[in-house]
Amino acid sequence: MEVRKFSIPEIIIGRGSIGYAGSYALQLGGKRVFVVSDAGLERCGWVERLLDILHGAGLQTIYFNQVQSNPRDYHIHAGADLYRGSNADVILALGGGSPLDTAKGIATVVANGGRIQDYEGANRITRPLPPLVLLPSTAGSGSDISQFAIITDTQRRVKMSLISRSLTPNVSIIDPDLLDTADDHLLITSALDALAHAVESYLSPLAHPLTETQALKAIWLITRHLPQALLHRHPSDLERLCLASTAAGMSFSNASLGACHAIAHSLGGVFDTPHGEVHPVLLPHVLRFNLPACTAKMAEMGEVILSGRFASDTETAEAAISWLENFFADLGTASRLSQIIPHGEDFQQICTMAAQDACLLTNPRPATAEDLFAICQEAW
Ligand SMILES: [Fe+2]
Repeated sequence: MEVRKFSIPEIIIGRGSIGYAGSYALQLGGKRVFVVSDAGLERCGWVERLLDILHGAGLQTIYFNQVQSNPRDYHIHAGADLYRGSNADVILALGGGSPLDTAKGIATVVANGGRIQDYEGANRITRPLPPLVLLPSTAGSGSDISQFAIITDTQRRVKMSLISRSLTPNVSIIDPDLLDTADDHLLITSALDALAHAVESYLSPLAHPLTETQALKAIWLITRHLPQALLHRHPSDLERLCLASTAAGMSFSNASLGACHAIAHSLGGVFDTPHGEVHPVLLPHVLRFNLPACTAKMAEMGEVILSGRFASDTETAEAAISWLENFFADLGTASRLSQIIPHGEDFQQICTMAAQDACLLTNPRPATAEDLFAICQEAW
């Protein structure tokens, strides 16, 4: 086997694990903790609970909640200014992908200077970040595990992918109880984002045995347990969704992603499209495009999805793609881009940007802007 790496944070997972936030901040040398979250988690009472835990551990806190979905560059810079003026020493974020990526962006700028745009792409961060503790409140983004952060450049209207070992947090605290307050739409879009992470990273040329086992586990957990989790919301179902998101995060953080995420980032930059709504629309089309380049591997993945195989690899892979389409339809997600995007006029520009996205480097079949445009037209 070629030399491979597998980078993950320290992971604390289980119901009630939010209670460990204070002790981990202290272990990392914290006295004044810079807390990042958003208004939604304030309304659910989770921010108050977290601040109580930190204060109970004797820590001081500075709270920052200028966070939006598809986090903006100017919020990163506002957070970095507040951090610098506050003598904080640890950054702790609670939320879905947006607060967690906002925290990563703030940590990057305060440690390295300049603007967040300076760190777009792979391995551009040179100085170590302040200690980062991340608490995901959704089972999907994988930001609490990954060495990725996705930030919107508002002038260029593009979602930048920042990829660096430095962005892997020190600690990920995963408490399935936080999913209790998530509505069905959030559970579905988060889980399907995690499914897209698992599928794209499994097919990535950078995949290796340590990432593949995680990806297949995530695919199995989501395809088998998401409907049940929506129906019953039993704690064990929510735990499985957290495990799936964590496993998918371990896989994509180390093997990266593909064309589905490259296009989703560009769509999000232009239309502010919610990330998790794009994947069920695009993923089947991207898989059909990729099929000739990774037929045997897609069949292996198909065997997990279908719990069986057909006579040939191609039949197995095609049946798995159809199975996923039916799975998405049963969940009630959009099946055409025209259902989630106001118009298709900017698609040439979107696909030109997507062809520059770092995630496209690991698509199993090389794809040009024209190929991506054809995929979007099929999905329209
Ligand atoms: Fe994603």
